[in-house]
Amino acid sequence: MAISEEDINAVRERADLVQIVSEHVSLKKKGKYFWGCCPFHKEKTPSFKVDPVLQLYHCFGCGEGGNIFTFVMKMERLDFADAVRAVADSIGYMLRYEGVRKKGEGGRKRLYELNEKAVGFYQYVLSKTDQGKRGLDYLKGRGFSDRTIADFSLGFSPATWDSLTKNLLKKGAKQEDLLAVGLSIKGERGIYDRFRGRVIFPITDLKGQTVAFGGRVLGDETPKYMNSPESVLFKKSNTLYGLFQAKNEIVREGRALVVEGYTDVIALHQAGVKTAVATLGTAFTEEHLALLSRFAEKVVLVFDSDAAGLKAAERGIAYVTDFRMPGLESVRDLLNKGGTEVMVAVLPAGLDPAEMIEKSGPESFLDAVGGAVDFMDFAIDRVVRRFDLSTTGGRTKAARAVLEIIATLDSAVAQEQYLKVLARKLETDLDSVLLELRRFAKGRAVNASGSPAARWDVQSFVEREFLKIALQKPELRERLQEVGSDYFVSPVNQRVFAVLSQIGEGKFELDLPADEELTSLVSGLTLEEIAADNLTDYFSDIFARLKEFYLQRQINSLRLKLEQLNPIKNSRGYDELFAELLRLETEKRSLKSRT
Ligand code: UTP
Ligand code: MN
Repeated sequence: MAISEEDINAVRERADLVQIVSEHVSLKKKGKYFWGCCPFHKEKTPSFKVDPVLQLYHCFGCGEGGNIFTFVMKMERLDFADAVRAVADSIGYMLRYEGVRKKGEGGRKRLYELNEKAVGFYQYVLSKTDQGKRGLDYLKGRGFSDRTIADFSLGFSPATWDSLTKNLLKKGAKQEDLLAVGLSIKGERGIYDRFRGRVIFPITDLKGQTVAFGGRVLGDETPKYMNSPESVLFKKSNTLYGLFQAKNEIVREGRALVVEGYTDVIALHQAGVKTAVATLGTAFTEEHLALLSRFAEKVVLVFDSDAAGLKAAERGIAYVTDFRMPGLESVRDLLNKGGTEVMVAVLPAGLDPAEMIEKSGPESFLDAVGGAVDFMDFAIDRVVRRFDLSTTGGRTKAARAVLEIIATLDSAVAQEQYLKVLARKLETDLDSVLLELRRFAKGRAVNASGSPAARWDVQSFVEREFLKIALQKPELRERLQEVGSDYFVSPVNQRVFAVLSQIGEGKFELDLPADEELTSLVSGLTLEEIAADNLTDYFSDIFARLKEFYLQRQINSLRLKLEQLNPIKNSRGYDELFAELLRLETEKRSLKSRT
């Protein structure tokens, strides 16, 4: 049920972050702030800071941060609406519009109920009917216990055309709802069941509500699996099979295992490996990663070593190597942030986790997982392998392909780490790789004074300092008007800038839950110290550098354009660009002479 914006704000204003945090962390007041040991990672010395005025928290150890709602979301593992409800309850605030359903809300509830009825129907067929006996025999044959079958609410869909559809219609279901959740399909002669003669795997959301179904054939027919289509309840890219059952154990261990199949998840759970989840036959996306990083510090992608598995591995990696892909930023940010560690394990010779467990119990599987390697390391390996490293040409090409990836990383530390990995893979030293990086950067018209790695790092430092001061010192914010979002290279910083531009005088309000990550970053920037004696001068310096970098980028791209233009054929265009170039150069010079 939707909670009104008004109520959300009212709860935020009335509730006290310090008090809520104190229920979990022992806080000490030092100066304006409260400090304690971070509840989101293990530590002995307090690096968790709470600002009672801004009502924000931030951990300087692990980078977690946000406001009262994100705190409760993370601490209690709730979604945004439930977190608001929990905070409202704790201060005795009545959510006024709680009873009034927004248009569509009632509809969703009906769809969940419909899915629940379908689960019941499939379970009944599996356990109580002759039809279902085949399915039950199949599951038992695979070694699944009654308990496991119940834990995952497994079922069976009769091999008839419309048993489920008829049954649910009789119980008052609406035809349009059956179609909306994809349980039924509309044909020329009326509507019929999507799943027929299949073992049914209900797919749930974090609360355990069924959002979709997977169905497996008993024999070798194709397709082997069928899934519900996406619907208002179900989006593949942000759903993980088994997460509802796994989430508590994932939190306990701090680690999640992502396997490929439904049956892998189930077999692993039964064998006591309760941290396994699976994608729904799709690639692992940044949305999956964001979802898991709410529970785990470490995510291990476990790939079957069969052909399909390796293809999946390539697909997974496309998100990192092809950095122009939309949505990549967040994978990169997550990798960069270092908040969530992503590892890859490839299983030995042609077995998937379910088969490994059937053959020899969980040990060999856990061994393989124990041998997981860092995701970027793995990605670099895959890229490098495509080239013939015995020739100089091949090695140069391999280096460039990998530098493409490394260049997208924000963190200089991460860049250096991967440059080392690359050097090792090419059996050369770091200096040679750096040399290549420099050449590579020139080729891409990056302003390479010194190593581009260092260059990018200064850029991101300046961006951060600028945003930090602008966030913390409202009186200096008028400078914001002189800056545009293209002054920032980092996509996250661009977004912080966008948020900042919307904040009114002295106010601090962020849209939640639209972006937890953004909130966390903003809270970090807001609470970090500014290390400067004279703030006004320092800000002027930072502003000048930010502008200088921006001008330099403009200049670089203009130069590139000029090089591609024929001054004789297109003299007017050339002259215009040239004049623009001169103007930018002058502006940059005068900026430099002032600082
Ligand atoms: P697998 O073929 O490895 O199946 O596909 P599995 O889960 O190991 O099943 P069993 O053990 O052979 O019974 C892995 C995943 O890919 C998706 C499903 O999500 C499956 O769990 N998939 C596979 C499909 O969506 N459709 C298919 O036809 C095949
Ligand atoms: Mn499999």
